[in-house]
Amino acid sequence: MSLENSERRKFIGASFSAVAAVGGFFSLVAMKKTWDPLPSVKAAGFTTVDLSPLKEGELHQITWRKKPIFILKKTADMKADDNRDVIVDGARYTVCIGLCTHLGCIPSYKSGQFICACHGGIFDISGNAVFGPPPRGLDIPPFKIDGTKLVLGETSPEFEKLVKKA
Ligand code: FES
Repeated sequence: MSLENSERRKFIGASFSAVAAVGGFFSLVAMKKTWDPLPSVKAAGFTTVDLSPLKEGELHQITWRKKPIFILKKTADMKADDNRDVIVDGARYTVCIGLCTHLGCIPSYKSGQFICACHGGIFDISGNAVFGPPPRGLDIPPFKIDGTKLVLGETSPEFEKLVKKA
């Protein structure tokens, strides 16, 4: 084999390797795009609520992942609950998924309680189960505090702390 042939083979080998490496890179990029959730799906998982305009004692209801979410800014007269209150900018809030933990009916807010009409379950102002068949308090959705905003759908040390206690 001549020296010229050997050089040519080395060059062709290197060229094939380069083409294979570039092809492999673009295949990985395409596979990642396929696996990643669509932007619309990502956005649907999070809901941001600005708590600053909320009035004390008024129930604010929003929807997160098709579930009703109750947000109540507590008044000074309402019992504080360190195991469940979400504290944002010095104010205490009840934040919970508005589905009864018995069989999933939506409780209504009346006179400082959440009352489930389906089987008479009652939750207190903080969402603790206090009467009837509900096996536990209203669930707290995963949240993160961002200034005066609550980001639902993201966990945080504050959320983890409450979930351990609630
Ligand atoms: S579903 Fe609420 S008490 Fe049964």
